[in-house]
Amino acid sequence: MKSFASDNYSGIHPEIFDAIQNANYQHEISYCDDTFTSETNQIFEKIFGKLVVLYAFNGTGANVICLKCCTLPFQAVICSDMAHILIDECGAPTQSIGCTLLPIATPNGKITPELIAPLLKGVGNVHHIQPKVISISQSTEMGTVYSLQELKNLCQFAHSNGLYVHLDGARISNAVASLGVSIKVATVDCGIDIMSFGGTKNGLMMGEAVLIFNDKLNENAHYYQKQSAQLFSKNRFIAAQFSALLSNDLWYRMASHSNRMAKFLENQIKELPGVKITQSVDANALFVIIPNHVIPPLRSKYTFYEWDSETHEQRWMCSFDTTEEDVFGFVKTLKELL
Ligand SMILES: Cc1ncc(COP(=O)(O)O)c(C=O)c1O
Repeated sequence: MKSFASDNYSGIHPEIFDAIQNANYQHEISYCDDTFTSETNQIFEKIFGKLVVLYAFNGTGANVICLKCCTLPFQAVICSDMAHILIDECGAPTQSIGCTLLPIATPNGKITPELIAPLLKGVGNVHHIQPKVISISQSTEMGTVYSLQELKNLCQFAHSNGLYVHLDGARISNAVASLGVSIKVATVDCGIDIMSFGGTKNGLMMGEAVLIFNDKLNENAHYYQKQSAQLFSKNRFIAAQFSALLSNDLWYRMASHSNRMAKFLENQIKELPGVKITQSVDANALFVIIPNHVIPPLRSKYTFYEWDSETHEQRWMCSFDTTEEDVFGFVKTLKELL
């Protein structure tokens, strides 16, 4: 099956697979006290400076740990109305933290200080929930990427209003490759307090890292990880994957490739009559409206998701292993159907 459905349809990059095998030769101390985890923590520290690193099986778990570190049950998380934490995590953050999510309508997935300001009116009023965190996704659920200036403005606004900034980095590698700067410059240097660093969507078998930059958020993090059922006794197999991902620029090679394939697809289709690209193609996803009659036959050959059932906007996503031939084949089928 060839797919443009999601970057988690793809498999495991061979260098990651090798890393898992290489971690499989000896006994190691369990629960993150192994040599692989401590070596990988050091790699993270080299990249980001001083921080606390935790690991999680999946993005939902990583987000829950991050938000738990930042909030109490009477507090609230401000997020986009398309945020994965709001739409696609079955209420995990609200269920396990008890906090409220305050969604903001965001046509392109990005939230701004201007959009947040009205939500802060009840701060200090005991009858109102208290916003404590701004949660952003980078890249966003709409395939767009916050610029460095947008990130800095948001973090500055948050901190001057006593809020933390959480970054859902399920696709942070794609965003950073798109921005063309170092990962540190695109995250902690902008003022991000806590983030998830995605692995699964960029060639790992499974695994995300929680990176805590603000030491006010550390105190209970390890307990939250355990209580959220995200502490893996054989964590060496997640850590070894991150070690490979962060070595030899593998994260960058994979993410810049999937971004390039998305641009390539955009360039092949943008002039086609009846095709409307609805979002800026900043990372590895395209959002596209095509004539209704084309959708079922195209989907019978290539899997992809309908994003909006009213407008019939479709989401097409490229992975680290999407090839130019895959794109050519997809475009050829689309042209024939049009
Ligand atoms: C923006 C975003 N955050 C987090 C996740 C992680 O989800 P999961 O818990 O399925 O790994 C996803 C996956 O689709 C995502 O798109």
